[in-house]
Amino acid sequence: MRELKTSSECFLFRKSCVGSVGLIPTMGALHAGHLSLIKKSLALCDITIVTIFVNPKQFSEKEDLDAYPITLKKDLDLLRAIDVSCVFAPKKSEMYPLDCSFDIVENKLSLLLEGISRPEFFCGVITIVSKLFNLFQPTHTFFGEKDAQQLIIIKKLIKDMNYNIKCVGLPTVRDKRGLALSSRNQRLSEQQKDVASNIYAALLLSKECINSNERNVKIVSDIFYNHLNKYKELKLDYFSISNLETLDDVCPVITDSVLISVAVYLGPVRLIDNIVCSI
Ligand code: PAJ
Repeated sequence: MRELKTSSECFLFRKSCVGSVGLIPTMGALHAGHLSLIKKSLALCDITIVTIFVNPKQFSEKEDLDAYPITLKKDLDLLRAIDVSCVFAPKKSEMYPLDCSFDIVENKLSLLLEGISRPEFFCGVITIVSKLFNLFQPTHTFFGEKDAQQLIIIKKLIKDMNYNIKCVGLPTVRDKRGLALSSRNQRLSEQQKDVASNIYAALLLSKECINSNERNVKIVSDIFYNHLNKYKELKLDYFSISNLETLDDVCPVITDSVLISVAVYLGPVRLIDNIVCSI
């Protein structure tokens, strides 16, 4: 496995690649959710590149950048064991030299849902992902549905900015309780994880409600709130039933397939999850 640290090493490595190239951007602290993306790339592509970079640009000042788990050695051992071709784990100064004066901004989808609570988040994500696309010119890239809005925005980035890349979205990997795997879960106790699994339980209840032909947004939302409110530790940041393409809130009646998404605080840890309801 090649371990790269600099942009010039990335360009050289890319020149040596023959066939399809799969790119999986991550912030490390790898878990089975990341592994599902990496394994898909290993199965589909001749070359698989994983990037590990805790991107400071997507954290706001009041967010948990310093608390973000870093387990680089363990991550590298794991990637070596499954025969990943190459890992790029740059330093901050490599990705953002002091004189760097460009940001990539999306003006519509990134203002909604997560973008309301975290205004600088998607600019950070899009800027770093564009840089990684430029460094590796992948033929394929793999993103998780766990971050549904991120996946939708990256697909739009590829379309609007004419990247010749196929973006593959993969289902959320959950633990046996239903809790969506996330690097941030490392900061939760087992007992807190039990409580946090009720986020998915509440999403499932709303989905069942829609599946049983309820179309009233207020009724579907109340099913969610009633379950979540049983757990006082779970502090809701937002809950939204939105259009799958535009991400606009659907109200007052559901007429098409929807994305139900949610962000919840458990202590200082912010957890997000979502579910799609096809109708
Ligand atoms: P990170 O949270 O490390 O996630 C990297 C990729 O793994 C993303 O595509 C994310 O959706 C996917 N992923 C995370 N948890 C998952 C789960 N439980 N099931 C399936 N896929 C999961 O997302 C980021 O990093 C960053 O924003 C990044 C795109 C790397 C830009 O910095």
